[in-house]
This record gives sequence, C-alpha cells and structure tokens, in this order.
Amino acid sequence: MRISTGIPGLDEMLKGGLIPGRAYLVKGEPGLGKTTMSIHFLMAGVRNGENVLYVTLEEPLDMIKNDMSKFGFDLNDPHFHGIDATPVGKKTHIFEGVHYEEFAESFQKLMRALEERIREKNIRRIAIDPITMIRLTTKDELEYRRQFLELLKIFTKYNVTVLITSSILSSYPDVEDYLTSGVIELRRYGVGGKTIRGIQILKLRGSDFDEEVRPYRFTERGIEVYSSERLYAR
Ligand SMILES: Nc1ncnc2c1ncn2[C@@H]1O[C@H](COP(=O)(O)OP(=O)(O)OP(=O)(O)O)[C@@H](O)[C@H]1O
Ligand SMILES: [Mg+2]
Repeated sequence: MRISTGIPGLDEMLKGGLIPGRAYLVKGEPGLGKTTMSIHFLMAGVRNGENVLYVTLEEPLDMIKNDMSKFGFDLNDPHFHGIDATPVGKKTHIFEGVHYEEFAESFQKLMRALEERIREKNIRRIAIDPITMIRLTTKDELEYRRQFLELLKIFTKYNVTVLITSSILSSYPDVEDYLTSGVIELRRYGVGGKTIRGIQILKLRGSDFDEEVRPYRFTERGIEVYSSERLYAR
C-alpha cells in the first residue's frame, strides 16, 4: 500500500507514493519548496479525513498559513494541527484549540510534545519543517544521531508517516540521509539566466523509483512535478 505525497507527479516518481509508517527527508536550499511540499503532503491526509501535525521551526505558523492559502490550502481545517516551535514564536492563540508552544531548543522537549500530540489527536501524518535548527542546536554529532533515532522510534511506535525537511548544511550523505527511509532532493539550476527547478529521489527503501531529475514548477495550486519530462529538453 502507498500513500500520496499530495503531488501527483512525485507519486509517479515514487511508483505510487510513500510507503506509510516511515520517515522521509526532503532536502533543498532556501526557497525551493520544502514548506510547500510539506503542506501538500499533510493536506493530502486531511483530504482523507486524517489528523495531521505540522511542526514549524523557522517560519512562524501564521505566516505559513497566509502563504499557503494562496495555493488554496486551508490550514484552518480542524484536521490540521500546528506546533509553532520557532524561536520568535510568542505565546499566542493561533488555531482553534492550538496554542504556541515554546521549545527551549531541546530535542527531548519537542519529542515529548510530539508524542503527546500524536496520542491525543491520533495523528497519521507529520511534517517537521525544517530539522536544521535542531541539528544546529545539538552540539555533538553522535548525540544528534542518537536523538534522531529516538525521534524515529516514536514515529514507528505510532505508525505515522513523516516528512522531515532540511536545508543542506554539509555534503551528502548526512545523518538524516542514512536514518530515514527515503530522501528527496530539490535543486536549482541556472540556465541562460533563468532558474530551472529539479526534483530527484536519492533513496527509497523497499521500492523501485524514478532515478532521474524531473522538472517542477510553482503554480497557483502549489508545486507541480512533471514526471515524464526531462530537465533539459533537447
Ligand atoms: N505563486 C508563485 N509562483 C511562483 N513561485 C512561487 C509562488 N509562490 C511561492 N513561490 C516560490 O516559493 C518559494 C517558497 O517556497 P517554500 O517556502 O515552500 O520554500 P522553502 O524551501 O520552504 O524555503 P525556506 O528554506 O526559505 O523555508 C518562494 O521562494 C517562491 O520562489
Ligand atoms: Mg520553508
């Protein structure tokens, strides 16, 4: 069984979608669409009547809510739950029944809050966007690896499907690349003074997948992946 990423072209590249109950990594430089992709993925769950959880660590939730409404995504849907873990997040009421939560950049604290929310709301999909802050605030590499594994264990325990985004900090492969079940990379290419965006699946445990870089674009409906087009048309 596969579940949709909310982006039809990407589902095709994944040979039907994501294998549920696993964690996936979406990597890409700023502005390439990590947040938009996270929301596509969560809203596909909402459309199925699932409860979903979005954890934002850099961009305040109200800004994301506003930006995503331009693509037609309604983050006020009662199935959409948000945790604002941005350092600038003030303790303010945002959504019905959802409040800002302040995380002292502690991974432990975040994990407890996540587990509580998963149990309480029967969360089926989670997006953590991006993990980069946690990475930077965990000084020791081995400690980060241990904590990341602990986080994945919680997701496995509740059988949730998770999308974790990351701005690339170092050379491939990194801790998250090794520990997640799949890795998707967003790339920017400069061609004749224009930017072309490309998406590539780098790994997908337990499945065949399209290994080619495929073009994608932002439209008024969000991200569109052209799974049968080559990046450079001849
Ligand atoms: N209507 C639109 N048409 C074209 N491009 C758009 C449109 N709306 C947003 N974008 C693009 O989407 C980008 C933002 O996407 P998104 O926030 O998902 O990226 P991100 O990878 O999460 O970025 P960051 O690393 O800054 O968080 C903008 O940089 C802009 O280029
Ligand atoms: Mg973002």
